[in-house]
Amino acid sequence: MKSEILKMLWEAQEYISGQEICNRMGVSRTAVWKVVNQLREEGYKVESVTNKGYRLVACPDSITKEAIESRIETRLLGRNVYYKEQTDSTNTEAKRLAGTDAGVDGLLVTAERQTAGKGRRGRTWISPAGTCIYMSLILKPDIRPVNASTLTLVAALAVCRAIKEETGLFAQIKWPNDIIINGRKICGILTEMSAEEESIHYVVVGMGINANQSSMEEFPSELWDRASSLLIEGGEKIDRCSLICRVMEKMEHYYSMFLQTEDMSGLLEEYNSCLVNIGKMVQVSNGKETITGTAQGIDKKGSLKVETPDGIKNIVSGEVSVRGLYGYV
Ligand code: BTN
Repeated sequence: MKSEILKMLWEAQEYISGQEICNRMGVSRTAVWKVVNQLREEGYKVESVTNKGYRLVACPDSITKEAIESRIETRLLGRNVYYKEQTDSTNTEAKRLAGTDAGVDGLLVTAERQTAGKGRRGRTWISPAGTCIYMSLILKPDIRPVNASTLTLVAALAVCRAIKEETGLFAQIKWPNDIIINGRKICGILTEMSAEEESIHYVVVGMGINANQSSMEEFPSELWDRASSLLIEGGEKIDRCSLICRVMEKMEHYYSMFLQTEDMSGLLEEYNSCLVNIGKMVQVSNGKETITGTAQGIDKKGSLKVETPDGIKNIVSGEVSVRGLYGYV
């Protein structure tokens, strides 16, 4: 009920009478009044004026289940939110939930802080409270397991577009799935899957977005040359719940296109237009060998085409690192 009343206040923009809320919800005035007081305790500023009703004046700078559920405009993705103030990792939490009745298709798991945030290639994702977005989406697609890793690229496109629309910043993708602004990493994506030979139990797409860190001091020193936040790059604080909703909307759109072919056919041009590496010299390393060449964009499977003196190599994402010839991008 809290999410629904918050949605009404959010959508009304102006005053909405207590009676109208009661009628739409089918509850008493006292029940509405109680919910409004709960919202106030959580940091929402709700004005109430006799004969006019309630008006939402300001939202707290925190991520809550209600704030997301009341604003989201998707059909499935992120309509149900599982929020914890602190968890080990939203990916791990999502994987625990995915095996239970609560872990439905499209459930978004989010937390204010992670104590054991995970990055790609076994790295740690440092996850302090108050400034970032940590979220993991549970998906249960009816596709072949071999095609599921491409969802990472789909998510990268969704985050890239959502950031652009929400902030106006020129976000790009560093293949396969880092989001870059001005040559610095703003977001990382980690996709995990549970499957049998021919069917998927679930896929968890985890996204970590650096939103409101105000200075580089808030990052570990080893990231000073390559990380940044939306606030540092754009100079404006981000409404994290709005950005989460925007990412879900974009993801729903691109995910439905992906499902039609189970590959990037329908998204190829758009993905390549966001790719920071295109036309640039890159070094691709799998730990044993390094290939150097010019990145030409992805193919429909999501592999990066690299032109080398020995011809075009199609690099499959996974345990490879891609770097520019002279630095991170
Ligand atoms: C990367 O190494 O670039 C991927 C980082 C992914 C981090 C996100 S934060 C939310 C989700 N939970 C995790 O433990 N990891 C992902």
